[in-house]
Amino acid sequence: MKWSELLLILAAVRGSLSQNIEVSQIPEVNAIEGGTANLECSYNLSNLDLPAGWYKWYRYYPQKADIFKSDDFKGRITKESPEDFLKKRSASIQLHRVTVTDTGMYFCEVEFSGQEQIKGHGKGTFLNVTATDSTSCRYFTLYHCIGAVALGLLMSFALYLNCKEHKQVSTYNCVSV
Ligand SMILES: *[C@@H]1O[C@H](CO)[C@@H](O)[C@H](O)[C@H]1NC(C)=O
Ligand SMILES: *[C@@H]1O[C@H](CO)[C@@H](O)[C@H](O)[C@H]1NC(C)=O
Repeated sequence: MKWSELLLILAAVRGSLSQNIEVSQIPEVNAIEGGTANLECSYNLSNLDLPAGWYKWYRYYPQKADIFKSDDFKGRITKESPEDFLKKRSASIQLHRVTVTDTGMYFCEVEFSGQEQIKGHGKGTFLNVTATDSTSCRYFTLYHCIGAVALGLLMSFALYLNCKEHKQVSTYNCVSV
């Protein structure tokens, strides 16, 4: 018997004994800086009699890092509820207030355990966060506008005061003369 045949048999035996899990993710998600990114993930399990299941998301930045435990994402993640995780077979998350540095590959991993343990991960989602050049420009012009109006008002007020003062001075002068 050749090694390849033996390996095939071993794989077949292993496959028939263990359950399979298939995890799928959206290949790419685009988001604008400061916005929210939906990182969708779902899984398929051949049979759901395993009592405990959970999921996590990780990225390589630069090493494999669990984003649920990362300070970088603290307070910015909305997770799927445990009910939806089991019923809808969804392990999706939402990342809030995304920044350009969040750009990268994110992997969804689902794990179930009981008598045996099965684990699978998706092929990864590329999150592309683009800077808000146009928005910051609009904000810039808005502040500019407010600034210009305020400055204009201040100047006319100063001019008014100045005029008033001049008038008073001239009246005073008139009276005194
Ligand atoms: C899950 O299984 C169903 C039926 O077998 C199939 O139609 C569906 O595409 C699968 N979904 C995933 C995410 O593998
Ligand atoms: C990210 O998105 C922007 C805008 O949609 C696009 O121009 C850019 O090519 C994308 N970058 C990558 C690496 O896909």
